[in-house]
Amino acid sequence: MGKITISTLDKMKAAGEKFVCITAYDATFARLVSEAGAETILVGDSLGNVVQGHGSTIPVGIDHMVYHTECVARARPDSLVIADLPFMTYGTPEDTMVNAARLMQAGAQMVKLEGGTWLSDSISMLVERGIPVCAHLGLTPQSVNVFGGYRVQGRTPKGAKSILADAVEIQDAGASLLVLECVPAHLATDISEKLDIPVIGIGAGAGTDAQVLVLHDLLGLSDHVPRFVKNFMAEQGSVQGALRAFVEAVKAGAYPSDEHSYS
Ligand code: KIV
Ligand code: NA
Repeated sequence: MGKITISTLDKMKAAGEKFVCITAYDATFARLVSEAGAETILVGDSLGNVVQGHGSTIPVGIDHMVYHTECVARARPDSLVIADLPFMTYGTPEDTMVNAARLMQAGAQMVKLEGGTWLSDSISMLVERGIPVCAHLGLTPQSVNVFGGYRVQGRTPKGAKSILADAVEIQDAGASLLVLECVPAHLATDISEKLDIPVIGIGAGAGTDAQVLVLHDLLGLSDHVPRFVKNFMAEQGSVQGALRAFVEAVKAGAYPSDEHSYS
């Protein structure tokens, strides 16, 4: 595949070609995800759930993210490596810069943070200082206690308008990518069409420029999964086969179908 950069992803969006993101937290899976053809790897703070056994991402700290980012980076994957800034490590622009720098020095090529308008200054400061940013809107799991549970976001006209406004704002601030999680498919399609930057969906329907799933979920290893998850292991019987099946299904537009989306 050759080393993927943000220009590769921009060109894919312009050409209408879907790309793929899969989470990984260690060197072996980083290699397998890259070999399967996923253009991006997310060292997600979902490691709080699937690796550490917590019920949310809130207990995850920056040292944990640095450790797992180093493990992933040692595989030297062709995929672009994005690492999550965990809960409360980007509350101020100063904290954001110190913690984002740690993730970049651990081997990330981009950092991801959850939120919209309030992050504009932090995003532009990071980009000006050489750190590309992926924003994350919709169901942002670090705010689960504000939402009162893991619920689909943007279902009311007011909610949808505010997610669209946030998306435009983070693009204007200089973000390179946007993850949209658990929003109605029509809203995600609308935002993907309005933005120049690529939009990666999870539980956001088939109209985004890319799809992401948590590794353990797509391998059918998680005990309870949301409706949008498909077990790609069931029909494949090997990890490599399941990863390739997910990549191919996204590129062919076969995943997510309506049964894996919210209307
Ligand atoms: O932490 C994670 O795995 C994520 C994805 C679900 C987008 O943020
Ligand atoms: Na995350």
